[in-house]
Amino acid sequence: MSELHFSPGLDGVVAGETDIACVDQGVLLYRGYAIEDLAENATFEEAAHLLLYGELPDAAALTAFKQRLDGYRPLAPEVVDALRLIPKAVPMMDVLRTAVSMTGHFDPVSDTADLRERSVWLTAQIASIIAARYRLLNGQEPLNAKPGLSHAAQLLYQANGQEPDELHARLLDLTLVLYAEHEFNASTFTARVICSTLSDLVSAVVGAIGALKGPLHGGANEAAMEMLTQFKTAAEASAWIKDALAHKRKVMGFGHRVYKHGDHRARILERELRKLAASLGAHEWMAIYDAIKEPMVNDKKIYPNLDYPCGLTYYLLGLPLDLYTPLFVAARVTGWCAHFMEQAANNRIYRPLSRYTGPPARPVPARAK
Ligand SMILES: CC(C)(COP(=O)(O)OP(=O)(O)OC[C@H]1O[C@@H](n2cnc3c(N)ncnc32)[C@H](O)[C@@H]1OP(=O)(O)O)[C@@H](O)C(=O)NCCC(=O)NCCS
Repeated sequence: MSELHFSPGLDGVVAGETDIACVDQGVLLYRGYAIEDLAENATFEEAAHLLLYGELPDAAALTAFKQRLDGYRPLAPEVVDALRLIPKAVPMMDVLRTAVSMTGHFDPVSDTADLRERSVWLTAQIASIIAARYRLLNGQEPLNAKPGLSHAAQLLYQANGQEPDELHARLLDLTLVLYAEHEFNASTFTARVICSTLSDLVSAVVGAIGALKGPLHGGANEAAMEMLTQFKTAAEASAWIKDALAHKRKVMGFGHRVYKHGDHRARILERELRKLAASLGAHEWMAIYDAIKEPMVNDKKIYPNLDYPCGLTYYLLGLPLDLYTPLFVAARVTGWCAHFMEQAANNRIYRPLSRYTGPPARPVPARAK
């Protein structure tokens, strides 16, 4: 068996073909559009339409898409009851995993084969689940959606009970665009593997949520901010990073399997983060952010990924830490669903090989009578 090539973590292995996204010379493209272009010129709904339907919507298609999202926002009462029953201390990602599974039992489009429609439904439901759980944790009842708001503004409205200001809605929207898709990352691959067995869309999204939760993947936005909140000053952050590097500790929000010279999405968001911090007078936060970043980039040549600026952006927007990775889910569900549809349309079950490292063949010992 030793002649089989083994690549730990499937590093460098092409595990499938996709039309949905690629990283071309360090630039992420969603269906051919550069992420920088989309970040400047498209909303999350437009990016979601692009991923799910293959093209950016025209004005009429966008209106129809938003109306369908709004139509799918209400949660089944049973799902809200389940959200009440889950103990308060359960992390939001675990709640989301359970609630998405639960909402699958009340899927109004499950009896049709229309995977695209079910994807729109799941996108709407996930935002409503996050907001409803957030309110219940704060002793408030879930709120009905206010049709007509953007997906980002709707999520904030349903969580806080008031329409967000333009800046909050725009920055959340930007992070959702940046998070929506990233080709064969661990959670998307999980969704494709689940699809490849001819399992269903909700199962794939539940599995993908489980994969995204880990701090080496989506959980890094929370982990990065947890790291930053340890420090009161940039000097404290500098001392900490020196020690972390000396002891070869992993620094969350840095590094990437695909981007070895920097994550373009992180640079896009960091520009906006700097403006946000300046407008809030949050200079010390940016100094702490830079105190960690500079030695990582200059000494280690390990660059921030999207989760690093995203953690502090969400923090400065006043969002609770426990929501950061669920917000990633709220966006990435569109990428997962697009990949599910693509896999289903041209499927072959995923069944790789392993290299055996256990004992050689041997007989079962005779039992002592
Ligand atoms: C993203 C990540 C999982 C990629 O993993 P990978 O492609 O397997 O890369 P490796 O973990 O093998 O890293 C290669 C080298 O860089 C180092 N490195 C990578 N990311 C690092 C980080 N965040 N902090 C410190 N060192 C890091 C590794 O220790 C390793 O060093 P070595 O060759 O001396 O052992 C990894 O960079 C990481 O754990 N980052 C932190 C978590 C994170 O931010 N995840 C979000 C990803 S979008």
